[in-house]
Parts: sequence; C-alpha cells; structure tokens
Amino acid sequence: MTIKRVGIVGSGIMGAGIAEVAAKAGCEVVLRSRKHESADAMVAGLAKSLTKQVEKGRLDDAERTAVLDRVDAVTDLAALAECDLVLESVVEDLPAKLALFAELDGICGDDAILATNTSTLSVAAIAGATKRPDKVCGIHFFNPAPVMSVVEVVRAERSSDATIAAARAFAESCGKDVVDVRDQAGFIVNALLFPYLNDAVKLLASGAATRDDIDTAMKGGCNFPMGPLELLDLVGLDTSLSIIEALHAASGEDADTPAPMLAALVAEGKLGRKSGAGFYDYSRK
Ligand SMILES: NC(=O)c1ccc[n+]([C@@H]2O[C@H](COP(=O)([O-])OP(=O)(O)OC[C@H]3O[C@@H](n4cnc5c(N)ncnc54)[C@H](O)[C@@H]3O)[C@@H](O)[C@H]2O)c1
Repeated sequence: MTIKRVGIVGSGIMGAGIAEVAAKAGCEVVLRSRKHESADAMVAGLAKSLTKQVEKGRLDDAERTAVLDRVDAVTDLAALAECDLVLESVVEDLPAKLALFAELDGICGDDAILATNTSTLSVAAIAGATKRPDKVCGIHFFNPAPVMSVVEVVRAERSSDATIAAARAFAESCGKDVVDVRDQAGFIVNALLFPYLNDAVKLLASGAATRDDIDTAMKGGCNFPMGPLELLDLVGLDTSLSIIEALHAASGEDADTPAPMLAALVAEGKLGRKSGAGFYDYSRK
C-alpha cells in the first residue's frame, strides 16, 4: 500500500514536526487539532519553519508554497476519513489513546493503517481498541521530527507484514532511517535513554552536582550534544514522567522509580521548554 494521504492527530511538539516531514515528503497531510486556535497555530508554525528554510537556502519559494498547500488543518476527526495512514501523536496517556483509536476505527476506511507515535505504551493494547489490530503499528519519530534521522517501526503482536512494510516505506519516504523493534516498553531508544535521564534527576536531587555541571559533564565527557536535564526540557517533563512511569511499570525495579523531583516539577506546571520553564528558564529566550 502506498501512503498518499496522512492524517496526524495531536498538535503538540511532535504532531507539528511530523506534519512538516510528511508534507515535505509529498504526502497530503490532514492535521487534526481539537481547537481551531491550535490548528491555526500549527499552520502558522509550519509556515514560519518553512520560511526559515527558504532564508537559509534549503528550500525554494515554490516548494514552500507547495508544502503549505498540501497541509489542511481541521478540528473534526471525521475529516480523516479518506486517509491511507493516520498517525496519532496525542498526550502519552493510554486511556486517551484508546478512546482516540476506537473513534478512528469507526471513521477511517477499512484499509487505512492506524499508527501511534507513543514513546512507551503498549502498541498491542492500543490496537485492541480497534477491530483492525493487523493494521495497527507504532511509527515512532524523534524530537525534533524534521531533524532526527531515525524512526522506530514497532511491530505489535498482531501487526501484519503488509502494515509494517507500508509503515517502513512511509518513514523511508520521509527521509528517515528505519529500525524495527518489537512492542516492548520504551522500544530501543527510550528503553536505553530514560533510565539515564531519570538517574540524572536523582543525581541533581542528591546534591552531588549542580544542574549546569551535570549537563556540562555529559556533553564534554561523553560527547553528547545535549546534557540530560536540557534534553528532558526538550522532550517535555510531563511526557518524560509518563515514559519513566511506563518503564517502571514494565520492569518493576526499584531503580526505575521516577525521580520525585521530576514529578514535583510537573506538579508545579514546569513542563520544560513548551511551558517556558523546567530545569531551565525559557521565559526570556
Ligand atoms: N516530546 C517528545 O520528545 C516525543 C518524542 C517522540 C514521541 N513522543 C510521543 O508523541 C506523543 C505526543 O507528545 P508531544 O511531546 O507532542 O506532547 P505535547 O504535550 O506537546 O502535545 C500533546 C497533544 O495532545 C493533545 N491532547 C491532550 N489530551 C488529549 C486527548 N485526551 N485527546 C486528544 N488529544 C489530546 C494536546 O492538546 C496536545 O496537542 C506522545 O505519545 C509522546 O510520548 C514525544
């Protein structure tokens, strides 16, 4: 199956980035947000991002216009009815994703693939909300989606070979390197990354080193492009906490218990860059 029309649900950090990538790959993109203001903000954000690329000589004006013309922002989920693929990128919360997949199952054509961009949740559980579990898989982009080169394609217990092949072809058409992984908490990247990020918060809370020294140490000592606390702010502290909770639930290990400092920041509404503050302050950046 060739993916020509892609629906993207969720207008957060990831939804916007994936919409840009898919539209640049030549797909018709239907971007669904629950509120008109968020839908409009996403199109404005996309236009701004494309303008920057024109200014830097990475895109010409005609391409910018063509990409924007391929994106339709909607609020009605029914507008996704004609999509070949719908990629869900809403909040990392299982009940929210189950409700959405059940609704999408009733709206989308029988042949449509329904994919999730979940970071850690069970793709099989999400597929269970539909009557087409063979046509459900994970297509996990990384943040920022236009920049990061890898996509994890997640095969759940009942994902068909045709679904995985179509998901792979879509991600490759977006210019991504595809890795295959089975449906287990955190897949490859987050299973390895988040225990480290969680430990960085515990280290900070222990008073062993300052925020800046932890980030400087991991950049200079391991040649990582970002320190762990900067990276948590980029991902979003609420999303990070959900990921760590899911990994902890899967392992049951005390060592994987979420850092209380992370939960406290989320409770204060400090969600990282997207809210203007997290481990760092972004209000004047
Ligand atoms: N942030 C990252 O670095 C990252 C990377 C890869 C994958 N992901 C995954 O992508 C998904 C979205 O993450 P994000 O960072 O874009 O989150 P975000 O907080 O930026 O956006 C979440 C979006 O979900 C919407 N939403 C909230 N509750 C909803 C509901 N009940 N029904 C429908 N929509 C709802 C919000 O309005 C918002 O548009 C999550 O599953 C996350 O695990 C995130």
